[in-house]
Amino acid sequence: MTSGFVSLVGAGPGDPSLLTRRAVLRLRRADLVLYDALVSKEVLAIARRAHRFYVGKRAGRHALTQEAINALLIRAAQRGRRVVRLKAGDPFVLGRGGEEALALQAAGVPYEVVPGVTTAVAAPALAGIPVTHRGLATGFVVVSGHDESAYGPVLGHLPPRAATVVVLMGLARRAEIAQLLLDREWSPTTPAAVLYAAGTPEAHTWTGDLSGLGAHQPPAGDLPATIVIGDVVTLAAKLGRAAAPAEAAQAQRAVQQR
Ligand SMILES: C[S@@+](CC[C@H](N)C(=O)[O-])C[C@H]1O[C@@H](n2cnc3c(N)ncnc32)[C@H](O)[C@@H]1O
Repeated sequence: MTSGFVSLVGAGPGDPSLLTRRAVLRLRRADLVLYDALVSKEVLAIARRAHRFYVGKRAGRHALTQEAINALLIRAAQRGRRVVRLKAGDPFVLGRGGEEALALQAAGVPYEVVPGVTTAVAAPALAGIPVTHRGLATGFVVVSGHDESAYGPVLGHLPPRAATVVVLMGLARRAEIAQLLLDREWSPTTPAAVLYAAGTPEAHTWTGDLSGLGAHQPPAGDLPATIVIGDVVTLAAKLGRAAAPAEAAQAQRAVQQR
């Protein structure tokens, strides 16, 4: 039996120019790509010769169970395929990439991890928010906001202003998360932001504070969102107007042509 290979690849926040070079190479050579809901179609299009199969899990709507995904990866590799398991951001940040790596290892399937630019850092960066900044924050915590059992043990012990808080999968629970921090003596005026669809043409940012986060009304559509809480959010007003990706690419070409 010829053994194939599985690459657990991070797709970054959506803009294909934010893919790593190794991710692009693996996508170009893949026979099969199993991809998640938040992977952009531009990134997927790079895998021109591959069969592409949606296995997404979005807000409880599961196309396949995790066990079924693991089994698919293993079976395809055992049939000699070059498989890319494509996940938004980084595969090992709140992406169950570790579970898939363990399943592959247990089955004796050769695999690699191709790290991606996690939205936990990229979404704030693209909105002009450095997650750390001298004088404002010396660290950041990243939590899943999908359930109190996921974020409570971390945020419930975080003293006010101890670190920037980045919440993925937390939009539906923004009011509970804000209340938990307020109960923990965080100031209601602590700056907060919600970053929608970072790295895509639909990208936009809401900024406000902890007291307004719960009442903030998300825009129509089912856009992915990253929440950031902390003083670093104030920098968005100064840094958030950095060149858009298209303008940045144009400026770079101009420099290269000199
Ligand atoms: C299952 S987690 C996967 C995180 C991913 N592994 C990473 O490293 O970014 C999905 C969550 O990531 C965040 N997310 C993913 N893509 C995003 C984007 N383009 N803009 C804002 N947030 C995004 C949202 O909070 C979404 O609910």
